[in-house]
Amino acid sequence: MYVCLCNAISDKTLREVVRRYQPRSIQQLRQFVPVGKQCGKCIRAAREIMDSEMQHA
Ligand code: FES
Repeated sequence: MYVCLCNAISDKTLREVVRRYQPRSIQQLRQFVPVGKQCGKCIRAAREIMDSEMQHA
């Protein structure tokens, strides 16, 4: 499913990016994938995915 519709970023993509680069914040995450750069509606969902991935790391 898409987390970020504006940039067509899926939850799968986000999980892979989080696992690979282990960003500590949304700002860092955005250095690797352009999540939330348009409307910003996806930021909350992106943060939740990031948090859940980091707990499993
Ligand atoms: Fe991600 Fe709009 S849905 S920036």
